[in-house]
Amino acid sequence: MRRPIVVVGSVNLDLVCVGKRIPAPGETVRGDDFQTFHGGKGANQAVAAARLGSPVRMVAKVGGDDFGKRLRRGLQTAKVNVQAVSTAQDTTSGVALISVDRAGQNSITVVPGANDRLLPGDIEKALPAIRSAGILLTQLEIPMETVEYLCTVAQRYQIPLMLDPAPARPLPRKLLRQITFLTPNETETCLLCGVSPAEVTAATVDRFADFLQGGATNVIIKMGRHGAYLAGSDGVRKLIPAFKVKAVDSTAAGDAFNAGVAVGLMDGLDLVEAVRYGAAAGALATTRPGAQNSMPTASEVKALLAASRGRSSKPRRTSEKAAAQAAD
Ligand code: RIB
Repeated sequence: MRRPIVVVGSVNLDLVCVGKRIPAPGETVRGDDFQTFHGGKGANQAVAAARLGSPVRMVAKVGGDDFGKRLRRGLQTAKVNVQAVSTAQDTTSGVALISVDRAGQNSITVVPGANDRLLPGDIEKALPAIRSAGILLTQLEIPMETVEYLCTVAQRYQIPLMLDPAPARPLPRKLLRQITFLTPNETETCLLCGVSPAEVTAATVDRFADFLQGGATNVIIKMGRHGAYLAGSDGVRKLIPAFKVKAVDSTAAGDAFNAGVAVGLMDGLDLVEAVRYGAAAGALATTRPGAQNSMPTASEVKALLAASRGRSSKPRRTSEKAAAQAAD
């Protein structure tokens, strides 16, 4: 029996406006479309891992409103075990206001609601589930004291822990040392390293990965279309290229990436291959709108990986180019 991936994190309802562009401060723009989706970085990672075929348990808190019931049902439908998802009756569920432009870029405002009530006591209550984990995934949409407590639990029971430091906030060095896989994007890397966005490029990223690796065991910097830079504890330093796909919405692509890396590791891949698997999952998630509903299946990920391998190892006939381009 495979050990489950246990996700300790947020659950949100995403309110998504799609328009020509994302409004600047003080500006009103007209949108083309509005939809609600099930989201939250934690829940997205849980659903992504389940869709990729892993057993998944979620530790989270929803509000005592209709959104809470809907979000919990959504997780169950995705085959995520929700025994450790509790309800804070006197508050609202987490919501995220998301603007998406026609290039698929987004900006997000999160109101945590019940996510802020997920406390160290909830980790204690969920200990049997947490101890069953092959790997723990968490993010920063829940209170920092909960993340810190989870890190000490992970260390006590020697369970690998992957922290997605999103949304960006400073992290104590002590906490970094308890993390097995740290997966910042470029913005989070800047904040954690105290540098400006212009300084983190494909040419300089190794320096920042080294700096962060002074704390966390393995560092994977997610650089969107530039790929993912891996600094592994075994000395591996590698930029894993992004897969080129037709992106319509980048929301939750980073969550799909983290889930993909975790599933890859649980399936016995080495870290480089697991990161490739995560990159393929992340790329596929951008090809569909929304968060949890955009998560790919294992066969979609395998097809994308196979198509890209075929492309790099075989000379192609012209008729094969279009399919390979979609996959690369
Ligand atoms: O990572 C994407 C997620 O961030 C969205 O689903 C939204 O809920 C916010 O938490």
